[in-house]
Amino acid sequence: MKTFSVAVIPGDGVGKEVVPQAIRALDAAASRYGSHLHYEQFDWGADYYFRHGRMMPENALELLRGKDAIFLGAIGHPKIADHITLNGLLLPIRRTFDQFANVRPAVLYKGVRSPLSNPGEIDMLVVRENTEGEYAQVGGFVHQDHPGEVAIQTGVFTRQGVERVVRFAFELARKRNRKKRLTSVTKSNAQGFGLVLWDRVFQMVAAEYPDIETESLLVDAAAMNFIRRPASFDVVVASNLFGDILSDISAIIAGSIGLAASANLDPTRRYPSMFEPVHGSAPDIAGRGIVNPMAQILSGGMMLEHLGLEEAAAKVERAVAAVLEEGNALTPDLGGSGTTVEVTDAVIRAIEA
Ligand code: IPM
Ligand code: MN
Repeated sequence: MKTFSVAVIPGDGVGKEVVPQAIRALDAAASRYGSHLHYEQFDWGADYYFRHGRMMPENALELLRGKDAIFLGAIGHPKIADHITLNGLLLPIRRTFDQFANVRPAVLYKGVRSPLSNPGEIDMLVVRENTEGEYAQVGGFVHQDHPGEVAIQTGVFTRQGVERVVRFAFELARKRNRKKRLTSVTKSNAQGFGLVLWDRVFQMVAAEYPDIETESLLVDAAAMNFIRRPASFDVVVASNLFGDILSDISAIIAGSIGLAASANLDPTRRYPSMFEPVHGSAPDIAGRGIVNPMAQILSGGMMLEHLGLEEAAAKVERAVAAVLEEGNALTPDLGGSGTTVEVTDAVIRAIEA
């Protein structure tokens, strides 16, 4: 039996509720197709911070380095500033392990209502650059806490960094073999250096993919078109910040952020990739047993696919789709009254069926 070692970081808030449930579903899928996931749990996050003054131990990245994958819930706590929680855990993992492609699918499943009145068929992937751009954390404060304080925040765009994520997105559009369309999103009219480089690199790489239809949009127009013509999109590639924002739009037009999965991939496989839902720790509903586990389960499905367990991965997605279409076990975000555990039970029944 093939065994994989997975680092599990449930994190904070609803992360602690959805991760154990998703693991039940993943185990059902893995065992059905004759493989085994071996988990090591790490109790990092806000509670760890309250005890130790940091989000994860000093050697955390070393502990993760040898794993086949990282399965993350959510990070964030109302009593800790977000820039501390995120720069203390999530962002260093993405960067250290060079997880440069953040893949965020948005599918409008049958039985799920989009807030759009006439959405058509939504089945798109946002590929977000995940290691540089507006998230590079280059800059500083001058005259801190004085009236004349200055803050400088620099976006970092490298030719290599843009090229590899753009190329990854072209490959994905080819492999998906759906509309064979790739949309690149920038704001090069206003940000005349980093994103002009992005546009140039996009054009250059596009020449190698004559079978893929391309489109370049400015981010404001892209935001509008996600709402106006979501069905026209196939694969979308964008910088770190724009991909972050657009993937919340793509999530909500596909019905609920509670369904939005994501994969932080190091496609070179030098380092472990990390799988986490798009949603955060949701302190407003944490602890009530009503959070939708499906985003975490679908993120786990993406993990199975990355580990080479394609059949198990496809089964997980089909099981979630079946439960959504049936409509009997749904959490409140989807208009149901089911609990996290009941929804997971239904998904597991569909995996085992
Ligand atoms: C996400 C989140 C994070 C991000 C935050 C929490 C730093 O919004 O994964 O989309 O912006 O990357
Ligand atoms: Mn986000």
